This record gives sequence, C-alpha cells and structure tokens, in this order.
Amino acid sequence: MIRLEHVYKTYHIADRQVAAVRDVSLHIKAGEVFGVVGHSGAGKSTLVRLINRLESAESGNVVVDGEQVGSLDAEGLRALRMRVGMIFQHFNLLGSRTVAQNVAIPLRVAGWKDAAKINARIDELLELVGLADQRNKYPGQLSGGQKQRVGIARALANSPKVLLCDEATSALDPQTTRSVLELLLQINQKLGLTIVLITHEMDVVRTICDRVAVMDSGEVVESGEVAQVFLHPKHPTTRMFVQEAEHFEGLDEVLATARTSGRIVRLTFVGNDAYAPHLARAVRDHGLDFTILAGRIERIKNTPCGQLTLAVQGDEATQQQALAHLEKNGVTVEWLQ
Ligand SMILES: Nc1ncnc2c1ncn2[C@@H]1O[C@H](COP(=O)(O)OP(=O)(O)OP(=O)(O)O)[C@@H](O)[C@H]1O
Ligand SMILES: [Mg+2]
Repeated sequence: MIRLEHVYKTYHIADRQVAAVRDVSLHIKAGEVFGVVGHSGAGKSTLVRLINRLESAESGNVVVDGEQVGSLDAEGLRALRMRVGMIFQHFNLLGSRTVAQNVAIPLRVAGWKDAAKINARIDELLELVGLADQRNKYPGQLSGGQKQRVGIARALANSPKVLLCDEATSALDPQTTRSVLELLLQINQKLGLTIVLITHEMDVVRTICDRVAVMDSGEVVESGEVAQVFLHPKHPTTRMFVQEAEHFEGLDEVLATARTSGRIVRLTFVGNDAYAPHLARAVRDHGLDFTILAGRIERIKNTPCGQLTLAVQGDEATQQQALAHLEKNGVTVEWLQ
C-alpha cells in the first residue's frame, strides 16, 4: 500500500540544515497496522507527512496505492488526500463548529452537496466511532478521548484506504488511550484500513501494531514484526524503548547483580508454546537445574509471549540435552554468557 525508497528530507533554516529523514526505505502492506517509534525529533512526523505529501521528499520515491506521490498534480494530490486520512495529537477540530459540522468538512471539500446524504454519512461515521449521541455538541464540551473520536470520524469521512495517526493518543490518559486504540483496531479489521501509527510509546505498538520501524536521527535503525522486535531488539535505541515499556532492567544490570554461578541462557516462548510445560519437561526428563534471573510473560497484539533468563547449572551434557529438547519444541535458546 505504501512504499518508500531511499527517501530523504532536509529542512533548510537560515544557514542551518536539518536532515529530518535520511535514506528511509519502508514497505507497508495493505491492511496492516504499522508503527513508527522514535524519540522526539527523530523524524517520525516528517516521515508520515511525506506519505500524504504535506511535505515533499527531496529525493527518493514515495508510492501510495500504486501512485508516485512526488509527481502528482493538484487534482491528483486532492484525490490522494481523500484516500489518505490523518489524525493528530491535538485533534485539530474547529472549536466554533459542532461535532457533525466538523465531520462534514471533508465531505464538502470532496464535493458532497446533498444535505440529507451528508447527514446520513455523518450519522454512520458517528455511530462507527461511538459518538452517535454527541452530534450537536461543540469540541469544547467533549473529553479528549471523544475529541479524538471526532478526529477519527472526520478522517474516515471519504472512506480512505490509509489512516495516518501522528501521536494520536499522546494527549490522552492510559485508559482513554486503550479505548481509542481499540477503536482503531476495530476500524482496521472492519474496514480493512491500512494504519500508520506514530508514537513514542512502545506500549501502543505492542497493543495494536503488526510491524514496527524504529527511527533515530532521521534513519530507520530497525524494523520487523512487533513480537520479533520486542523479544529480540538489536539496536540500542530499540533496546531502550523495549526496556522502558517492560519496566524491565537491562540484562547487564541483571547479570551484574546476580549472585549465582552457571552459564546464562535466555529462553523465548512465542504463541501456544508460551503455555506448554516445555521447561517443566526439561527439568523432569533431563534433570536441568537452574535459577531464574529475570522473566516476563505478556501478550503482543494477540500473541502470547514469554521470556526467561536462567543461570543453568550442572554438567554440560545434561544442559545440552535439556536445551536441545526445548529447541526441538519451538523455544528460542540464546546463550548470553
Ligand atoms: N517545518 C520544519 N522546519 C524546520 N525544521 C523542521 C520542521 N519540521 C521538523 N523539523 C526538524 O526536523 C527534525 C525531525 O522533526 P519531526 O517533527 O519529524 O520529529 P518527530 O520524530 O515527529 O518528533 P516529536 O516526537 O517531537 O513529534 C527535528 O530536528 C525538527 O526540529
Ligand atoms: Mg512528531
């Protein structure tokens, strides 16, 4: 649905140059929820603004739904913006217009004139986002979560194929964040909408994204399936984000304070293997002896995952047999020390 190939964007301010996006290549599939995570200033907003050409790339290709975004004329650009909706951190609603009037704006821009049709479409959209009873209120009379729901209804007015979300939940409390994320997921599944979601919170990524790209200083430093990136982060920036989200101290800290002997091994269980008694069998059938140094069990989107860091003791042959048994049963085994 979206393809970026060697995309660069530099801002020129007075005599200074800021390389906001540097050599980014990404493929985002139709129907997936794709997360972009990174620190403030990493280039995330610039990256999504390149997708609907609120910014133009200085080099490289941006292709959306088969069209080269860089070479669109005014008419083509208007059509693109109808196919690519966007929601914002601070909602960007018009305070002097009611909920219904805010949602009507993109319909009128798209040339809708028949009041009855517009009203019917507004009803449908407000129903979808759970605001059927808030039609005639003004944004100032709504909570943050409700305002973002209006933003979502407005973004979906012209039935786009792609929804860009720039820190859409960053101004919301955790519970409201969860309900807005649930709505986005529901829309993704019901309408088959492709969602690109920018955030600095890994928890958001874990809740709804299928794949994620990590940005640092304008570059994508790591990308992949969310479970893979969460369980085996490679780049230091990714590790930091994961540690923050897990409230999990770094492995170095665990190893430095562990008062135990033995080699250190990390086991990762994904999917139904997270519930199977593989480790218990390794103990019972192979006599594996160990101490648990760290552990976490969680869900990544719909996938249950577990990760245990163990100091394993006992003779080498026993260890090898027990860990071979685990590997045979789909557990990822990594020797850390
Ligand atoms: N219109 C602009 N003019 C000049 N520089 C800009 C402009 N927009 C962004 N920048 C610079 O480009 C870099 C990337 O900015 P961008 O807004 O894309 O980051 P971000 O990852 O979205 O950050 P945040 O998490 O704070 O929203 C920053 O150094 C920023 O100062
Ligand atoms: Mg931003």
